[in-house]
Amino acid sequence: MSNHKPKLPILFFFLLLLFLLASLAASQEFTYKGFRAGAAGGNPNLTLNGVTEPQPHGILRLTNETSRLIGHAFYPSPLRLVDRNGTAVSFSTQFAFAVVPEYPKLGGHGFAFVAAPDPRLRGALPSQYLGLLSAADVGNATNHVFAVEFDTVQDFEFGDINDNHVGVDLNSLVSNASASAAPVNLKSGDTVLAWVDYDGAARRLNVSIATGSSEKPAAPLISFRVDLSAVFREQMYVGFSASTGLLASSHYLMGWSFRLGGGAAPKLDLSSLPSLPRPKDGKNRTSLILAAAFSAFVALVLLAGAGAYAAYRYKNRDVIEPWELDYGPHRFKYAELRRATRGFRERELLGSGGFGKVYRGVLPGSGETVAVKRVSHESRQGLREFVAEIASIGRLRHRNLVQLQGWCRRRGDLLLVYDYMPNGSLDRHLFGGDHLKASRLTWPARHRILCDVASALLYLHEGWEHVVLHRDVKASNVLLDADMSARLGDFGLAKLHERGTNPSTTRVVGTLGYLAPELTRTGKATAAADVFAFGALVLEVVAGRRPIEPRAPPEELVLAEWAWERYVAGEVDKVLDERLGGAYDAAEVAATVKVGLWCSHPSPAARPTMREVARYLEGGEAGEVPEPPPPPPHPPAYSGEVGFDDFVHSYPSSSFERAAAAGAGWDGGTQTSVATFPYSPLSMRSCHVSV
Ligand SMILES: *[C@@H]1O[C@H](CO)[C@@H](O)[C@H](O)[C@H]1NC(C)=O
Ligand SMILES: *[C@@H]1O[C@H](CO)[C@@H](O)[C@H](O)[C@H]1NC(C)=O
Repeated sequence: MSNHKPKLPILFFFLLLLFLLASLAASQEFTYKGFRAGAAGGNPNLTLNGVTEPQPHGILRLTNETSRLIGHAFYPSPLRLVDRNGTAVSFSTQFAFAVVPEYPKLGGHGFAFVAAPDPRLRGALPSQYLGLLSAADVGNATNHVFAVEFDTVQDFEFGDINDNHVGVDLNSLVSNASASAAPVNLKSGDTVLAWVDYDGAARRLNVSIATGSSEKPAAPLISFRVDLSAVFREQMYVGFSASTGLLASSHYLMGWSFRLGGGAAPKLDLSSLPSLPRPKDGKNRTSLILAAAFSAFVALVLLAGAGAYAAYRYKNRDVIEPWELDYGPHRFKYAELRRATRGFRERELLGSGGFGKVYRGVLPGSGETVAVKRVSHESRQGLREFVAEIASIGRLRHRNLVQLQGWCRRRGDLLLVYDYMPNGSLDRHLFGGDHLKASRLTWPARHRILCDVASALLYLHEGWEHVVLHRDVKASNVLLDADMSARLGDFGLAKLHERGTNPSTTRVVGTLGYLAPELTRTGKATAAADVFAFGALVLEVVAGRRPIEPRAPPEELVLAEWAWERYVAGEVDKVLDERLGGAYDAAEVAATVKVGLWCSHPSPAARPTMREVARYLEGGEAGEVPEPPPPPPHPPAYSGEVGFDDFVHSYPSSSFERAAAAGAGWDGGTQTSVATFPYSPLSMRSCHVSV
């Protein structure tokens, strides 16, 4: 009998062991203290994508300081982030990263911890998309992408709170929860430790960050109640993504630990992780100075040798001034752009006007198709100010703006490199005389184009610290991408041409028919003048005819005026483009016409803001758009300084620029009078417009 006594405790012991083993199987953990390349010289046990590269010190670099890059690094095998019941399980992770921006205060673009069903994240875009999603995917529940972003650029498109924040992103780049990282400065270049903990039972996600200490702060930065069950698929890959935009940062990862199934991830100690070599260190500085001195010496010797050659090349150099180096990598080499456009061949010409010629180009390095705009300008000072400005407007990111990739300057030429838009300009679709093209402009397509342009203008006017004026909204500046989404191009360019060689003169630049009447009096570009131009565009798209149509009967010459008369007479359908063939949503058309008329009001104060415009256009219901205020009852006196016929002859293409190109040219400074149109919202009182 006594022999059998110990059996019960042994049974308990085995059961306990079994239970422990079972729970161990459900949990999983790993730790990377640095990312040294494996024995075979391959990747450090991670799936790397994009430009991610292990560095000699065991640091993983996701991006360098080149613009528009994506880097990914994922744990090589998928993890079961949901249990058998489909409920998201607890996990905990800790990682150490650093963001070293190209210019101390301007980050670009950010870094994120990600869980996704596919470690390749196909179709993901750089810049504000952080290498996570494509523009079309943002917000789709089918993405199954969970991310914690460490964002160093404020993107208004996604409602970012500032340019130094942490956000929780579910299937989108619009954060579901976010908090300023302060006092931590994410783009300081210091190693940042981050903790992301999800409690599956309590359905709570906590995110903490710290610099200079390996200890987790007592209170989390973000504590967000969320059930990740719907976001996670059965098998998910975890890892990191980083991207750069026009401005760039190097994104580094120094260490990573992860634990699945409850409990905290293994602690990372800053002292045991590789650290970035800091040029700020005293030692490094000495060696840097030595290296610089040595290079200077070598450079001197080389310079002496290359003197003759340099003198030979001097005449044809790219113009690089010290201030331009501040924007370094985004400058393209002239030779590169010349090669891309095959020496600016006529056959590569996409169009001209709008301040210059536009060529199609294929970048020699990436094979990417781009549009290269060649702008000539007589004033070096004007160009300099303008390039300084593109450094800031180049940071503007919006899906309805044509993305500026970079620039190059050579003598009086400025070359601007933009994303290539395969479907060309709206102008060509509306008036190209090509039946096929116009037939693609169904009412839904036209309405969407107008909403797209409104949203781009709203972003320019209100989405940035200061108001960015477009100054030249017109159909030929609205470009259509592969899926016929509209993007506004050339913003800010008009400003370049407002400044002449003589800084005290301001020239009104714009395109007749889109020019707000007050502009020609005051010469001062305003948001209301952009709204006016947008109004002209709205009516143009609805009617399928130009804002000023010289071939039309006199009463129909000025589209806005004619449309107003038809509107008052209750005959809006007479204004509509016949090519629509009656296939349209009447309420939407009515609302759109109202918005167009309202924007075209001669008084700037009476026009709506772009915010109102965007709301009414998207809203669609005619009833929601207030009655546009009628234009002043009495037409301004017809000055008759220049006959109407003169005007038509002077501006056959209805564009100041082309008129200038054909006539006096930019330097002419000729005073050109523009006739007044009776009873016209576009009327201008014998204004003197210098072209
Ligand atoms: C990486 O893989 C090697 C060989 O498979 C293994 O010995 C090592 O422990 C792995 N390291 C990590 C951090 O998982
Ligand atoms: C950054 O990485 C890309 C791709 O690996 C490379 O083409 C580029 O030259 C690198 N830029 C710098 C500044 O090292």
